[in-house]
Amino acid sequence: MESEVYSSCSEDETHAVAAHFASRLEKGDIVTLSGDLGAGKTEFVRGICNYFDVEDIVSSPTFSIINVYTGRFRSGDAVRIVHVDLYRLKSKDELKTIGLEEWLALPDAIKLIEWPEKANGFLSQQHYHVEIRTLPGLEDRRKICISVVNAPCLGHVQK
Ligand SMILES: Nc1ncnc2c1ncn2[C@@H]1O[C@H](COP(=O)(O)OP(=O)(O)O)[C@@H](O)[C@H]1O
Ligand SMILES: [Mg+2]
Repeated sequence: MESEVYSSCSEDETHAVAAHFASRLEKGDIVTLSGDLGAGKTEFVRGICNYFDVEDIVSSPTFSIINVYTGRFRSGDAVRIVHVDLYRLKSKDELKTIGLEEWLALPDAIKLIEWPEKANGFLSQQHYHVEIRTLPGLEDRRKICISVVNAPCLGHVQK
């Protein structure tokens, strides 16, 4: 997949881009989200959760680091959505404490991770990456780039 670029002029448009993107997600998928504070990462997560009819209030898990929601595919099949925000991560040791690796390995959940750069190198699986940029002087405008990261996974090279 080439990277896809969208332009958003409002929170609602970001939700719509996110919902459109969510329609391709499957159980086990991982999505990382980057961008400055206030760029719209959590709004993008809300758009994904709206698509999956999540009933809980989706809020930034800044203090809890991980929130888990229950959603549904259009088929009615339930899916857990794990929302991680690493912004306040203090050390790599904390990754162990929160059990990030175990959460990421869950085959039946969709994992959405804000601030992946706070834990550089923790992700070896292929995943989607969403980059949200603000534009100088244009308050509600955002540029949203979505790509697939084919992270090298040397331990699992298939022959
Ligand atoms: N086009 C847009 N897309 C997303 N959020 C927007 C947009 N325009 C303004 N906003 C506002 O920007 C803020 C984004 O907050 P949030 O999603 O919590 O950021 P982050 O998680 O990246 O720190 C919200 O207050 C939202 O209303
Ligand atoms: Mg956030």
